[in-house]
Amino acid sequence: MPRVSTLPVALDLAHLTHRFESGRGLGPLDLKIPAGGSLAIVGSIGSGKTILLQLLAGLRVAQAGTLEVDGVPLGQEELRAHWAGLGWVPQEAFLFSTTLRENLAMGRPEATEEELWEVARTVCLDDLIRRLPGGLGTVVGERGVALSGGERQRAALARALLRHPRLLLLDDALSAVDAETESRILGNLKGYLGQSTLVLATHRIFVAELCDHVLVLEEGLPIESGSPIELASQAGTFARIKRLQSLERELTGTLG
Ligand SMILES: Nc1ncnc2c1ncn2[C@@H]1O[C@H](COP(=O)(O)OP(=O)(O)OP(=O)(O)O)[C@@H](O)[C@H]1O
Ligand SMILES: [Mg+2]
Repeated sequence: MPRVSTLPVALDLAHLTHRFESGRGLGPLDLKIPAGGSLAIVGSIGSGKTILLQLLAGLRVAQAGTLEVDGVPLGQEELRAHWAGLGWVPQEAFLFSTTLRENLAMGRPEATEEELWEVARTVCLDDLIRRLPGGLGTVVGERGVALSGGERQRAALARALLRHPRLLLLDDALSAVDAETESRILGNLKGYLGQSTLVLATHRIFVAELCDHVLVLEEGLPIESGSPIELASQAGTFARIKRLQSLERELTGTLG
């Protein structure tokens, strides 16, 4: 078994392509994500955000092009080590019909009580857990206490964080959480992650603005790529959505 590294992952995509028969999908896409960097993927519904994250997770094999992880093309041989360092939070949060403790500690059964509470605080779930009759021992999921969509999402994120991932992939993972709480959680993440590379897909521009780099996709192709400040100063899609969402915020008096 190769020694599992604890350093953040560097990713290098060259002409990465995955298209379905319909022609929809992703690529070709060229992109470098430095170790410890953060990337936000923005784009309308069906623009290829999830496909890209699935490729980065090694859950799909690209039809063409290469994906290098720390300078090594990701192939069958490398998958196990890649997954060992991966925190993956899909668009649809999934909880098992068992205790909250087991749901959180699934990827790291040896996690201490202290670590569980720390991660619960990071995702702003600690208040809820204190209110639950059985605390962390409360059975949730299918037949247990029904959690809201946003609570399920936060539990799924906590589960991924507890693994101390080298690469954290969030697919619109806090979409059902109110914008203010999402903002707080992402602020907390910075402290918690430490040595990790972050790639997230989001519909919220203020979330993308928390990342070093933003990629805007349209029909699977990159149409804008740069720092959030650069993109906001150009007359493109990012700046247009930013204006729209700011206006919405002013009208509704909320964050997102
Ligand atoms: N298994 C599949 N078979 C065929 N087409 C697919 C499949 N999965 C995705 N697609 C198509 O590929 C395109 C990109 O899908 P993707 O799920 O990446 O979009 P997205 O940007 O994540 O959208 P959303 O904002 O709704 O999450 C869409 O047009 C979708 O219909
Ligand atoms: Mg998606």
